[in-house]
Amino acid sequence: MAAKLMHAVQYDKYGGGADGLKHVEVPVPAPKNNEVSLKLEATSLNPVDWKIQKGMLRLFLPRKFPYIPATDVAGEVVEVGPGVKNFKTGEKVVAILSHLNGGGLAEYAVAKDSLTVARPPEVSAAEAAGLPVAGLTAHQALTQSAGIKLDGSGKQANILITAASGGVGHYAVQLAKLGNTHVTATCGARNIELVKSFGADEVLDYKTPDGTALKSPSGKKYDAVIHCATGIPWSTFEPNLSENGKVIDITPGPSAMLTYAIKKLTLSKKQLVPLLLIPKAENLSYLVNLVKEGKLKTLIDSKHSLSQAKDAWAKSIDGHATGKIIVEP
Ligand SMILES: NC(=O)c1ccc[n+]([C@@H]2O[C@H](COP(=O)([O-])OP(=O)(O)OC[C@H]3O[C@@H](n4cnc5c(N)ncnc54)[C@H](OP(=O)(O)O)[C@@H]3O)[C@@H](O)[C@H]2O)c1
Repeated sequence: MAAKLMHAVQYDKYGGGADGLKHVEVPVPAPKNNEVSLKLEATSLNPVDWKIQKGMLRLFLPRKFPYIPATDVAGEVVEVGPGVKNFKTGEKVVAILSHLNGGGLAEYAVAKDSLTVARPPEVSAAEAAGLPVAGLTAHQALTQSAGIKLDGSGKQANILITAASGGVGHYAVQLAKLGNTHVTATCGARNIELVKSFGADEVLDYKTPDGTALKSPSGKKYDAVIHCATGIPWSTFEPNLSENGKVIDITPGPSAMLTYAIKKLTLSKKQLVPLLLIPKAENLSYLVNLVKEGKLKTLIDSKHSLSQAKDAWAKSIDGHATGKIIVEP
């Protein structure tokens, strides 16, 4: 019997940006052991998706061409593979697909059951699809790297969040405010009121002199920086850190890695901590529940149909999204 076909968007070599994406018909993937097959309702893009296409991770990713990009998906379970116990067909879920295989820019995708979580009716597909990479990175940076307790039980900490209008940053502001924190945030002038509405205590326009210098308007020294922007040198952070302040760099380049090594070797009290997301279903479930309870919002920059995936891709590359870019198959 001929395999059922689906519409997907893929690329077959490095480079090319949005024009490198091709609309194709490919077989609907079948779930293997401990996998679920999903009919996708929403997929969100992350900068890593186009960075993989650019060849910035070419030692590891993609594993092979052609490659259907994107990993953050929400949809309905339509088939379960052998060994799947926690999900059944018809269930609404959110999942993070493996970056090795991608698969998000398509009508159907397969996800590991261990990285799939249930999505209650109160949480829309688009809101849920925003969460995996961006929400989990914000969660990991705050809880694991900065040691913030999101139940508010920890001691008070001053946090700086750069690029607070972006995918990771807007979740980081909201999550940080669940803890016992004072949050300073940076964003462009047009988003200052928006970032305040997410709970930031003070907001700096990153294009002003104080914003460029990351200076807290109330004179706070930061115990942790959740650094979601790029291109800010250690010398800018250093004078703004408290005695044991840490910069959690989620896009660490060679100079950040050098700073990390030097600070470690010299037993500096101020540290740079590079972060690589290790996704965990229990944390994704926690975030979905916060959205359900109205304690966390997914800010949606824009929605695009799968046939307009190139526009969504170009927007992500442009680097000026306010919140999450969503593609709806
Ligand atoms: N380590 C990991 O596992 C991991 C996981 C997730 C993301 N990341 C990385 O983290 C970075 C952020 O990801 P994202 O999804 O949040 O990106 P994003 O949504 O594309 O970020 C766009 C936002 O950043 C703002 N922005 C840009 N430069 C800024 C600056 N210098 N100061 C303040 N705001 C600035 C833009 O504001 P304007 O439009 O006003 O300029 C825009 O709202 C990316 O480099 C991504 O690859 C790493």
